[in-house]
Amino acid sequence: MADNKLIIANWKSNKNPTQAAQWQTQFRELVKSDQYQYVICPPSYLLSQLQPSDHDRYVLGVQDVSPFEAGAYTGEIAASLLAELGVQYALVGHSERRKYLGETSRLVAQKAELAAAAQITPIVCLDRDQIQEQADQIPRSLWSQIIIAYEPVHAISTFGGHEDPIETTLQVIADIHDTFGDNTRVLYGGSVNTQNSLAYLNQPSIAGVLVGGTSLDAEQFVKL
Ligand code: PGA
Repeated sequence: MADNKLIIANWKSNKNPTQAAQWQTQFRELVKSDQYQYVICPPSYLLSQLQPSDHDRYVLGVQDVSPFEAGAYTGEIAASLLAELGVQYALVGHSERRKYLGETSRLVAQKAELAAAAQITPIVCLDRDQIQEQADQIPRSLWSQIIIAYEPVHAISTFGGHEDPIETTLQVIADIHDTFGDNTRVLYGGSVNTQNSLAYLNQPSIAGVLVGGTSLDAEQFVKL
């Protein structure tokens, strides 16, 4: 299971409890194979509701994590607290947070360090011009424990949805491996859908996909 490719749902700030329950029911009915490791990253207020049972073929992730330990940090959720809810993965540095909330590569690295310390695997999202600056901020000892999600900003559906040609994607992923080492798993994200997902998932150098828009529909999501 550990080596299965990852398919990660990033619901962003979507779904009320009823919609989340419907999605979960549909996903349970439709998902058939153990070929992929599915990770659902809902808005954090849904984490308790979506706790997987022993039979479920998904685990939970979060879309962000606090850059601080647990304590007096209003509005933040510390990695150590998320770990108690069974959270296994944390997106950090998503381009929407870098853009709308001004998150820097330094802050993203702090989040990644605290997630890793809580046994949550950080998924560090970046575009090609952030590879080196992000590597400079993350301690070398963590490089083989993190996952990188290469997400070209122009390819994210809400920022334009201009898919990268696969050759470009593979080149950037090779650059990421050159920087972080071959043991760092690298995902692709940006307008992944049922038409193009296998082009990414079939590449040996791509460890999985990070999916926004298409993940909101359970039926589409299991067809990736
Ligand atoms: P998208 O989003 O699949 O809707 O392009 C991906 C992401 O923002 O992680």
